[in-house]
Amino acid sequence: MNAEKIDTAVIKEIQNLKKKNNAVILAHNYQLPEIQDIADFLGDSFDLSVKASKIKADVIVFCGVRFMAETAKIISPHKKVLMPDIDASCPMADMITKQQLQDIKDAHPGAKVLCYVNSSAEVKSISDVCCTSANSVKIAQRAFSKSDEVIFVPDKYLALYTAGQTKRDFIIWDGYCPVHADMNSQDVKKAKFSYPQAELIVHPECSPEVIKMADAVCSTSGMLKYVNSSKSKQFIIGTEPGIIYRLKKENPSKDFYALSGSALCIDMKRTTLEKVLSSLKEQKYALELSPEIIAGARRSIDAMIKYGS
Ligand code: 13P
Ligand code: SF4
Repeated sequence: MNAEKIDTAVIKEIQNLKKKNNAVILAHNYQLPEIQDIADFLGDSFDLSVKASKIKADVIVFCGVRFMAETAKIISPHKKVLMPDIDASCPMADMITKQQLQDIKDAHPGAKVLCYVNSSAEVKSISDVCCTSANSVKIAQRAFSKSDEVIFVPDKYLALYTAGQTKRDFIIWDGYCPVHADMNSQDVKKAKFSYPQAELIVHPECSPEVIKMADAVCSTSGMLKYVNSSKSKQFIIGTEPGIIYRLKKENPSKDFYALSGSALCIDMKRTTLEKVLSSLKEQKYALELSPEIIAGARRSIDAMIKYGS
């Protein structure tokens, strides 16, 4: 069988098993094209967490990275949440542990914690409010009073962007996304020289030098909304290039150029059709979190949904 025929057979089996198990597939916007194509729902971290709270299925197959699947489990603890590749992790989320956060909290008694959703369930369990790249500004404005001291973990660049937008200071952890932190002003200059008519849209995980040069700063789903409503025909995309597949599919008459072609998130590419199939067949890898961690993390996610909606 050639590769296309194998894919068709695998996809058919996935569809059958989905029905049999009353399962849905949630996928992040950076996933491989073939995974995006079989997903029941595609979105950014915020969309996916809201979707996980509303889904009626018994099983969620989460195609993304660990913190996203954990968020689905925290929101729907009675559902089975499967990760097709258990090693798909987010390096930035792994840059802070619960103990490290506890140490900063101890050093700043009374301070509140605003925690980027790209973090472990343990870290979320001792945070006050979660945020995503789609709502960090809104949450920072609504969840705290002006006099509150706020610790922002783990992304220093999202923290700086949010601080700039809200005109407030945070105690900032030194975490970052290696994919976005790699993009720099030289990349922007080169891309703008090659595509002078294009608008530059970047993710808030980029460094301030890149953000300063952008026409728009958005979450991945925010990028889709921005492009849909813009009159421009060309866009330079300052985020993981997996999103370009969806941008092009939804906007076939527009052109998209990756700000940095080498900025791949390897963890987001671990999930393949074959692994989704094995995941459904063998009901693996089912996420388990302790009731205490779920209860603590749920508080901070509920607070995000309350302040961010
Ligand atoms: P979004 O929530 O904007 O999709 O971002 C998730 C992420 O991991 C960005 O690197
Ligand atoms: Fe984490 Fe960056 Fe990959 Fe997003 S792109 S999952 S922040 S490493």
